[in-house]
This record gives sequence, structure tokens and C-alpha cells, in this order.
Amino acid sequence: MSPSAFISHCQKLLGQAYVLLDDQDKAPYLSDWRNRYQGKALAILLPNTTTQVAEIVKACNQAKISIVPQGGNTSMCGAATPNDSGQQVVMNLKRMQTIRGIDASNQTIVVEAGCILQTVQEAAKAQGFLFPLSLGAQGSCQIGGNLATNAGGTNVLRYGNARELCLGLEVVTAQGEIMQGLRSLRKDNTGFDLRDLYIGSEGCLGIITAAVFKLYPLPTAQWTALVAVPDIPSTIQLLNLFQKRTAALLTGFEMMSKDSLDLTAKHFPQMKNPLSNDPAYTVLVELSDHESEEHARNLMESVLESAFESGLATDAVIASNLSQAQSFWTMREHITMAQAQEGANLKHDISLPISSLHAFIEETDGILRQHFSGVRLINFGHLGDGNLHYNVAPPVGTNPKEFNSSHEQVIHDVVYTQVEKHHGSISAEHGIGQLKLPDLEAHRGSVALQLMRSLKHALDPNNILNPGKVISE
Ligand code: FAD
Ligand code: MLT
Ligand code: ZN
Repeated sequence: MSPSAFISHCQKLLGQAYVLLDDQDKAPYLSDWRNRYQGKALAILLPNTTTQVAEIVKACNQAKISIVPQGGNTSMCGAATPNDSGQQVVMNLKRMQTIRGIDASNQTIVVEAGCILQTVQEAAKAQGFLFPLSLGAQGSCQIGGNLATNAGGTNVLRYGNARELCLGLEVVTAQGEIMQGLRSLRKDNTGFDLRDLYIGSEGCLGIITAAVFKLYPLPTAQWTALVAVPDIPSTIQLLNLFQKRTAALLTGFEMMSKDSLDLTAKHFPQMKNPLSNDPAYTVLVELSDHESEEHARNLMESVLESAFESGLATDAVIASNLSQAQSFWTMREHITMAQAQEGANLKHDISLPISSLHAFIEETDGILRQHFSGVRLINFGHLGDGNLHYNVAPPVGTNPKEFNSSHEQVIHDVVYTQVEKHHGSISAEHGIGQLKLPDLEAHRGSVALQLMRSLKHALDPNNILNPGKVISE
């Protein structure tokens, strides 16, 4: 099939309005939000049913036209941006946004891939349930993208990441067949777990069109506090203290370094840290309770009292109402935007055993500061999950683009070699995309890489699904 015959075929399947060909219409789908990658595309395709997705994939497979599946396009690693050949199509699933149903007694929800994460949270809440997946991009990222990246976020500590919340998937294979796996079972050992294969596969193995997720009872009370902590060992001891005393009530434990909050205050002055004396580390703790407001508040106060007595905390503020609690979260979530406003920066989304975090930070900070005097380390993250966003910004006054083009690879190598030394992961929650493809090849191990290639070849022999992402062609 020639490219023009293929386009006509897509127009017949989807309707002309949903095959974008005009440069201006295509533009928003062709670059990532960080503006690191710019691609081109033959067309942007906007299907709204699983059957349409399947028919398009069949045609692509026959014509050997590769597809870049796309959701909210909030990827941190260029995973949803096409290459610059102009021969690929982007398939954005935003029109597939039906919530197919909530089963209250089974505590599950069935949603289509194009549903915005926040919409799913709100739909669950309206029926008295919690859908716990929660991240800064929740107003624009889509469920299909969340599953394809196995997204993490701020509730993983208590509820797990997207993989742990998902019970079943509907997937269109690279051949354009529909794998109907929308099972809402907590137990299902019927052969290989295909659901787990597609989750986290970044659009390289199949196109997710719908999913079943677990729901949880809504907590009756939530208390949020900001705690000033002198150093990383104290932060970890504070985490362990909360884990011991509050167990499953601990739903958030986020760490923010002084540099990261300074940057947030610089770009968003209304978001200044309410703790005085600019602590070295600020921790955001959240407790969610099903008993009563009083029970949760007493517990928060009592654990913080112990933390003060043992010198783990030097200051704390407990949010007195919902809007103050929200302002703490807003400050935390704006670090990413502050980094973007500051200019190009080097992001490392890594995870480590919590017991190795201190040694990793001390050694890696030391190496980077020794080689790049004045470098700023914008570190924050989901410390309760051992997930650090270990970001490197150039010294004040240095041109970020020039600094990055001279030092980017050396800095990545320093950080990832340290991660390997401390038995961590070079991608905790953001995925590989195109940004980390060479780093994965350098750090994942040849046997694992060969198995990934074999899987890719078995499921997508024509390499039409998101080629050039995760593993090299
Ligand atoms: P996209 O960016 O569109 O795509 C991501 C990948 O999924 C691509 O490989 C794409 O091909 C594939 N894909 C998309 N839809 C499908 C589908 N239906 N079927 C198959 N493959 C598909 N991530 C976290 O994990 N934790 C965080 O705390 C977090 N915070 C963020 C905060 C901000 C401000 C921003 C901008 C991003 C953040 N992210 C975070 C990263 C990002 O939001 C997540 O990775 C999100 O899950 C991506 O969803 P998306 O719909 O935007 O996917
Ligand atoms: C976060 O935790 O805020 C996100 O993962 C985004 C980021 O790393 O900047
Ligand atoms: Zn994160």
C-alpha cells in the first residue's frame, strides 16, 4: 500500500477529521513537553474505538508503517515523540475516554486508555472509592500512557504503581488482533502473565485500549505535614519511624532538598517553604485514616513528638485544613515546573535500596562537585519508595545548553555507574523512551537485553510499534 493509499484507508476508517495532515494540526503531537525532541509524522491518527485501533494497526502492519502510540504526551524521556523521518504515524488515544463501568462489590473500575488520570480519580470518588494512582501530570496524562510507562507517583508507598493497581487489559497486538483480557480477578494463574508484559512496555509490544483497575475505600481523614530534617540518614530514620508507628496509614513520604525548594520559590514565589531557616531537607508526610480525624491527627502529632525528641526533626508544620495540605502538595509538584523554567537540566529518575541512599548521595554529590564546581543538585523524590529524582543543573550564570552539550554524557555516566555500584535502577518510574536507550544498553546486562529483543521480535516481527524506543532496532 502506498502512503497516499494508506492515508485514504485511514480516512475511510476514522473519518477525515480524525486523520490530521496539516502541519499546524500535527505540531502539538510532534514534540515532547520538555522540548528535547522534535519529530515529523505522515499523519496523526485519532481513533475512538478498539476496533478502529485494530483496523489501523492491521493496515500499518501490512504497509510496514510504524506507529508511535501516544497518550497525554507527558513522557519525561521522549517515549511518545516520533522520529524525524516523516514516515511514522502518531496514534493518539485521547478520543477513547469512556469509563466503561464501576463494580462496587468487586471494587473495580473499567476505563478506556484515553481517559485522563484525574477524570478516573474523580469518577471513582463520586462513587465513594479511591483510585490511588496520583502524579503531577494527572490533569493531562492518560491511563494508557500510565500503564505503558508503569507510572509511579506519590501513592506507591501504600498502593503500588500502575502495574500493581491493574487487574486486566484489552490490547491491540502488532498484527491488529484484539487481546481481550479485561478480567477483574485478584487471582488468575492461567499461564504466562500477558498483562504484566504489556504494562511498562512503552508502546513497543501492543496498544492498550482499556483496563480494569482495583479501587479502594476512600479514607475518612487525611493529615499532611512538612517536616524539617537535617540530613539523609535522619530522613530515612524518620521514614522507618513512621512506617513502624503508622503502618498502612502512611500514604506519602516525599523528600525535597533545599536547592529544589529554592528553585521552586524562585520561579513560583507564592510557593515558599513555610518551614523557617531553609532546612537541608524538607519531608512531606501524609497519613490517611479510616477511623477518624482525631485518630490520624493524634498519631501524626505523637510520631512527630518522638522525631523531635530523637533529633530527627528540627521543625514541622501540620496542615490545619485541606487547602493548606493542598498547598504543600502544590509546592512539591511544582519542582518539575521550576526546573523547566530554569532551563535545560539533566534529570535522573533512579531508585536504590533505601539502605544505600545515603552512601549514593554522599559519594555522587562529592564526585560531581569535584568535577563541576558550583553544580546545583536539584534532588527530590518519592523517598518512601527509594525513588530519587537526582537532577543536575549547571552552576548559576552558566549557559544551560552549553553546559549540557559539553558534560551531559559524563554526568549521566557518573550517576548511572554509581547507581549500578549501589544495586539501583537507572529508571525508577519514567521509563526508557529514546532518552535512556543507550544507558539501558550500558547498564541492564546482555542477557536481559537479549530476552527483551527476543520478546519484541516475537510480538512485533515487523517492528512497527514505537521503533527506536526502549531497545535499539
Ligand atoms: P505519553 O507521554 O503520551 O506516552 C508515554 C509512553 O507510553 C510512550 O512510550 C507511548 O508510546 C506509550 N503509550 C501511551 N499510550 C499508550 C497506549 N494506549 N498503549 C500503548 N502505549 C502507549 N511519572 C511517574 O511515573 N511519576 C510521577 O510522579 C510523574 N510526575 C510527572 C510530573 C509532571 C509535571 C510531568 C510532566 C510528568 C510526570 N511523570 C511522572 C511522567 C509522565 O507523566 C508519566 O510517565 C505518564 O504515565 C505518561 O502518560 P501519558 O499519557 O502522558 O503518556
Ligand atoms: C515527580 O515526582 O515530580 C515527577 O516524577 C516529575 C519529575 O521527576 O520531575
Ligand atoms: Zn516522580
